[in-house]
Amino acid sequence: MAGTEIFGKEELEAVQDVIERKMIHRYGSHGARRGIYRVEEFENRAAEISGARHALAVANGTAALIVALKGIGIQPGDEVITSPFTFIATVEAIVACNAVPVLGEIDGTLSLDPVSTERLITERTRAIMPVHMFGAAADMDRFAELGKKYGIPIIEDACEVVGGTYKGRMLGSLGTCGTWSFDPNKTLTVGEGGIVFTDSEEVYSRMDCYHDHGHIHSKEHDRGAEGKSGLGVNYRLSELQGALGLVALQKMDYALGLLRSTKKRILQAVSDTGIVPRPTHNGEGDTASHVIFMLPSAESALKFRDAAVSAGCGCSIIADNTWHFAKHWKALEVMGEKDWFGTRTPSYAPETMAGSDRLLARAVMFGLSIIMDDSAVEAIIHAVRAGTKAAL
Ligand SMILES: Cc1ncc(COP(=O)(O)O)c(C=O)c1O
Repeated sequence: MAGTEIFGKEELEAVQDVIERKMIHRYGSHGARRGIYRVEEFENRAAEISGARHALAVANGTAALIVALKGIGIQPGDEVITSPFTFIATVEAIVACNAVPVLGEIDGTLSLDPVSTERLITERTRAIMPVHMFGAAADMDRFAELGKKYGIPIIEDACEVVGGTYKGRMLGSLGTCGTWSFDPNKTLTVGEGGIVFTDSEEVYSRMDCYHDHGHIHSKEHDRGAEGKSGLGVNYRLSELQGALGLVALQKMDYALGLLRSTKKRILQAVSDTGIVPRPTHNGEGDTASHVIFMLPSAESALKFRDAAVSAGCGCSIIADNTWHFAKHWKALEVMGEKDWFGTRTPSYAPETMAGSDRLLARAVMFGLSIIMDDSAVEAIIHAVRAGTKAAL
């Protein structure tokens, strides 16, 4: 699913243009750059596609999550509820703000479960961060209800689902903030880059300043003469990545179209086997980066995986995925054994994620590439058939 698969002459031209103009900084040099601001164009196009009022481009998806948390005013010791099935960056972003990650359980779609989330809300909860994982959306209507009921902002970690939708709306644009990633493993990549969306002028303004040392941005002043609103960091995106981002967004429909048609073809070809695809909250809005099936038990998932691998295809059980399941994150578990945040620190021991473990132990997964020839697609179909025969 890496976006480099669809790199071509458009990316070369976009980068060459930035280099020839020697205009690499996204801010300042207003006279010399003759009105060309690639990062800003990237932001405007992303906002237009997403339907969000504001888009801020930042250095990567992790930075986008940190900036979003800072934008809603997260303070040390605040609790943020998120999913144990995510990339560790979600939790790291919370920790980077000296806030406390609180892990809920997942639902049958493998997304953060709103019921378990509601049980974890305390007077310290300052944000809920559902994660849209491996193409599919979290239950956003339920999270919107929770946010409203308790007055808690929802930050969507949509880093993995650029272009995915939920009930016709773009993922990342539904919460108070939402984030996209364009890292090298994503369907669309600019090398390293991220976007954070919001409809709130106030949140946007805080994020805009925070991501660039607190500077208040204005085209009326030279860089350095704009004034500062406070302290920040440097999570700026460069014009090189902005230019690549514009090309990536142009290719979004093409990339998603290919992935979706491959996934559809696989699911249709195995529909007679009785194997059950992972249910989702967003159906056709899935970005189709992965094909996941739910087996009836952990034992049958093991049989499926072994037979699929023997049939010559890469297939894994999600519970074993050390990158994406918090049960495996020893560094986080250690945090739960000490009073790191000067406040209640929950346990992150594997047994606290038993419900999620049971579901992920039944989930088998194949990753898709954007460009797949017939033989690669047929290999997955063959492996699913072999797996099903062994397991069901
Ligand atoms: C769910 C999720 N959140 C956040 C991130 C962080 O994005 P980045 O790698 O751009 O920092 C990732 C990247 O893998 C991700 O998958």
